[in-house]
Amino acid sequence: MRFFTFEGIDGSGKSTQIKCLKEYLCSRGEEVFFTKEPSCGELGKIIRKEILDKKKKIELEPYAELCLFCADRAQHVKDLILPKLKEGVTVVCDRYYDSTVAYQSFGRGLDLDLVSRMAEASTLGIKPYMTFFLSLSVEQARSRLEERLESTKMDEEPHDFHVNINRGYKKLLEENPSRIKLIDASAAPEDIHRQIVSHIG
Ligand code: TYD
Repeated sequence: MRFFTFEGIDGSGKSTQIKCLKEYLCSRGEEVFFTKEPSCGELGKIIRKEILDKKKKIELEPYAELCLFCADRAQHVKDLILPKLKEGVTVVCDRYYDSTVAYQSFGRGLDLDLVSRMAEASTLGIKPYMTFFLSLSVEQARSRLEERLESTKMDEEPHDFHVNINRGYKKLLEENPSRIKLIDASAAPEDIHRQIVSHIG
């Protein structure tokens, strides 16, 4: 089962790398489905519109936020990811359950065991074959984000919030050495792409 996911703090360069990977896989004649979380489904749209939008005043309780991301994922797996995988199509997803552990536990401070179990349950048992963790310091990611036009509420969280998320990703990496691949996201885009492709083979 070819299911790849990308992870990293905001501004770590996932979108650029996903685009490069898309070109690479398509050039090899592989049928690939690209998706992201929050998803493009109804729950994902609500998360983007009501929770991540900076203009919205709603101060979401962290547990409510956790439930929404997990609800969106379960539906995303059922409606899109699983059917594509069953058709034999390669799936590449921008963020998946590691994001929930990193953001809602290490970022928001919710109990790690609870978040891990909910995040795991939300996958409906569909685990990525390989995950690329684009590792970048918060300082470097911040300076990239300043060039971006679109930003979300998460981007406005304090420095330590993002430092803690990076810490969470590093812990996940240590615990899942065969699934999660460490990618040095401070390198030039072509080098980062080469690192990713070297793992895919
Ligand atoms: P998005 O604009 O897609 O950011 P990015 O391009 O960096 O992925 O916004 C998604 C935000 O939602 C991002 O800050 C991470 C956050 N998020 C969580 O907090 N928990 C989750 O489970 C997921 C999937 C995303």
